[in-house]
Amino acid sequence: MSSSGANERTIVVFISGFGSNLQALIDAQGTPRMPNTRIGLVVSNRSGVHGLKRAESAGIPTLVFALKPYRDAGRSRVDYDRDLAAAVHTRLQGEPALVVLAGFMHILSADFISAFPCGIVNLHPALPGAFDGAHAIERAFAAFQEGRVDLTGIMVHWVIPEVDRGEVILSKEIPILPSDTLETLEERIHKEEHHLIVEGVRVALENKSVV
Ligand code: GRF
Repeated sequence: MSSSGANERTIVVFISGFGSNLQALIDAQGTPRMPNTRIGLVVSNRSGVHGLKRAESAGIPTLVFALKPYRDAGRSRVDYDRDLAAAVHTRLQGEPALVVLAGFMHILSADFISAFPCGIVNLHPALPGAFDGAHAIERAFAAFQEGRVDLTGIMVHWVIPEVDRGEVILSKEIPILPSDTLETLEERIHKEEHHLIVEGVRVALENKSVV
């Protein structure tokens, strides 16, 4: 667990589900793998997900912010994104050092992105430019079976309005083995993601501090 200090940086982690990447960040915060860094808030667009329990067990405040009430009230995605950004700033009483999307399943608008000048990073289970958007692992595995690719990968990148297209911070190739099933490939990818997300956050924070 992190110790608080004057130069400690507070990050916010956004999730939508299981939260295994959030757990990797929880385990790394305040250690030499992610020094002077603590998770100040975990945000989920879905209530009751396992990732929220992980945050609660680690004593990290949580915020559930669902899109459905906005849809039901005929309000726009931009309204949701603006209110979400404002709610995060209110809860933190200021700007975080970094926003981390770790399995957050909404595409965020330009309004949301510009509300966080600290920068937003995203974890995506594919190589840069390869399988943008949802179901990237399934699509990579199908491409392998059709003989179109022999590897896939993962990346952490800065978030821009074009989905999964921002500047790459770190990426890693992951071979697809002839013996792989979708499940074994997913398992190997998730294991690697848990290292890359921690390293990616550390590098993103370091790069920011030299700018
Ligand atoms: C990860 O594979 C991430 O790359 C993708 O969603 C998954 C989230 O997994 N965008 P978890 O909730 O961190 O276990």
